[in-house]
Amino acid sequence: MQSSKNPFSLIVASSAFAAMAAFMIWAFAQAGTLGMYRWGGTRGMILALCAVGVFPLVATIATRALFSTEGKAFAIANAICVAVSTLSLLVTIGVSLFVLTNAYGDAASADRPATVDPAQGFPLRKGIDGSPTFRIALSSDPHYGREASDSPARSAILRLSQAEYENGTLDAFFDLGDTVEMGMAAAGWKEAIESIRRDAPALPFVALLGNHDSIIGGITRWKTAFALEPSWRMDEGPVHFIALDLLWGPEGFGAAKKAWLKAQLDSIPVTDYIVVLSHCFFYSSGYVDEGTGMPWYDHADMLREVAPLIAGKADLVVSGHNHYMEWIEADGSAWAVVGAMGGKPDPVPSYVSPGSVWFSRGVFGRLIIELRPEGLACEFQDQTGKALFQKTLSK
Ligand SMILES: [Fe+2]
Ligand SMILES: [Fe+2]
Repeated sequence: MQSSKNPFSLIVASSAFAAMAAFMIWAFAQAGTLGMYRWGGTRGMILALCAVGVFPLVATIATRALFSTEGKAFAIANAICVAVSTLSLLVTIGVSLFVLTNAYGDAASADRPATVDPAQGFPLRKGIDGSPTFRIALSSDPHYGREASDSPARSAILRLSQAEYENGTLDAFFDLGDTVEMGMAAAGWKEAIESIRRDAPALPFVALLGNHDSIIGGITRWKTAFALEPSWRMDEGPVHFIALDLLWGPEGFGAAKKAWLKAQLDSIPVTDYIVVLSHCFFYSSGYVDEGTGMPWYDHADMLREVAPLIAGKADLVVSGHNHYMEWIEADGSAWAVVGAMGGKPDPVPSYVSPGSVWFSRGVFGRLIIELRPEGLACEFQDQTGKALFQKTLSK
């Protein structure tokens, strides 16, 4: 009879299981964790942690079913189960404390960059012909908090943008995500915020959430740094920016978010310009990741689940995530990748996206978008402001 057995081992094993289950439920409820499991090379570690939670309970139930209470064998097996369960509980508590105290720890900085409220936007200027104009810079993937990132290039891009803002030729800077290497860690955010404030103290700054920013529970620190929500819309006269929270891929981009995106797109006159912003790329040249075997190019999930909503409607889609600069034309839209704000360049592509018109690897820089009477003038520049590629999108 089970009832004759002391329930202590079962209580310890159940506690270890419940603790790990609670941690995993919290972790996978956080933005980006499912994507990290699929794409981030963490699958083995996550499955090992799940095994740490499940194994003691399975072993304890089996021990209690297989052995009789009278036998010495039961006493030994039961003691081992208690020891393994205790170890499991300690591992879970340790991992949980590490992640939660990082994610919800003290603020990285009391300050923040000079952020723009997307609902207000930035003020439009008047062009020489009197029509509204603006000129903005976009770049992505600075990866503050990572040794391998190019901090002089990062600073050069921001200082150039700040100088142009001061002389009235630039209106805002859009950072498309992966601002930091490890979203839950305060140190990277402290470096990011202090560096941005040093290099670009007054530059109106707006950001997207990147997959690295979101690791694990990092969205809390991202929101504190930029006072933003991950999805937003900014209307600048005839140009409409729609920012989407697409981190590793479309994981978490469910029916409600698709409906929101569709409603935004439908509300914009066809004579106006639509610029969709997303950390994760749709089209991109790229490579197969050596560690995971995953393809980091033309993102099949993004192209299947999200691209059909925007292709042909958006004039331009700008992303980061792959650390290249690229201009692609496909499906009635232009697709720019500008992961060139200092993050370590990705490998030389083994795959070239069929619509690729221009590609650059190993050069840091930014994408300038300027509203002119003839259309949206787009120009990739290196970190010194030298033009690399130009294209004007007109109606
Ligand atoms: Fe990145
Ligand atoms: Fe990324």
